[in-house]
Amino acid sequence: MTYTEIFEHLHQNPELSLEEFETTAFIRKILTEEGIEILDLPLKTGLVARIIGAKSGKKIAFRADMDALPLEEKTNLTYKSKNPGKMHACGHDIHMTVGIETAKILNQKKSELCGEVLFVFQPSEENGKGALEVLKTGVLDEAQAIFSLHSSPLLEVGQVGIKEGAITAAVDLFKIKIRGKGSHGAEPQNGRDPIAASATVISSLQTIVSRNISPTDQALVSVTHIQGGSNWNIIPEEVLLEGTIRTTNPETRAFVSQRLSEIARNTAAAFEEEASVEIENAPPCTNNDRELAGYAWELAQKCGLEPIRPEITMIGEDFAYYQEKLPGIMVWLGVGKTKPLHNPEFSANPRAIEIGAKYFSEMIQKAL
Ligand code: NI
Repeated sequence: MTYTEIFEHLHQNPELSLEEFETTAFIRKILTEEGIEILDLPLKTGLVARIIGAKSGKKIAFRADMDALPLEEKTNLTYKSKNPGKMHACGHDIHMTVGIETAKILNQKKSELCGEVLFVFQPSEENGKGALEVLKTGVLDEAQAIFSLHSSPLLEVGQVGIKEGAITAAVDLFKIKIRGKGSHGAEPQNGRDPIAASATVISSLQTIVSRNISPTDQALVSVTHIQGGSNWNIIPEEVLLEGTIRTTNPETRAFVSQRLSEIARNTAAAFEEEASVEIENAPPCTNNDRELAGYAWELAQKCGLEPIRPEITMIGEDFAYYQEKLPGIMVWLGVGKTKPLHNPEFSANPRAIEIGAKYFSEMIQKAL
């Protein structure tokens, strides 16, 4: 199968997080036909393939994520999604195809290869849980570095975005329950209105970024879900607020969570109500290794690509979990300027695959 056929097949058959069964089977089949070993690991979906070079050397990993998004595709592509309500709108189909093609290239060079390459086809990136599942198997315990890519709709084909440190943000989810006392809508004096308290909490949360964080630091707090009440003439007992915090360093991350809890609790208290706050940590911010970033930049120039220093984005990436354990780098691969990631009209130029596979096979080979 050509890389275009592989890409189109994956694009047409998107599967959601932890449901990547057909996708796993498809990749397994292609790699097995190439004579590439698939490791026996306790993963429900996803797989790790291994190529052992003829000479001894390092152990390097490459990671491609696999899952699609719950979106109805709105492109006019001939290979549009066949699965209603599901779409590869984050370029993970590009990532998998680059992974497969890179594995094919390196497998053909096995006799001159030093060390070992692990190809991690990781499920469930979109819910931020897949990387932890892979790490739990211990398969990367002895790996010395990990490489990955993400499609960039802001870069042309032939451009790569490379930067040390954070390129994506730490993600936290919060849930605030404000408990007051219900009453008749016409008798507010007999209740404690959680809707009035919520309005103040929401406005006050916006002062964390504007008043508590240095203007040169990066953070955001978004309230994205609010639920309370059932009728126009009843003051409810309780209001639920949900949202997300994004930060790019661990100190700010801890500080924003603490401020959010304080503001919610103390504001509710001022209304003689109670707020309970739950904060769930999703992936930390990515942390590209400085040395690997320099190496990737130089190699891009040698390969005739145009390296560009990208801005940080506040999206999350569970690749960050690998970078807590071993040095790693994630490179933005230009897929041509198109609609943003997670947009139903996102459409990557498949020509980027060939470029990506050549680049990563060089990167891995030289790193071994
Ligand atoms: Ni993605």
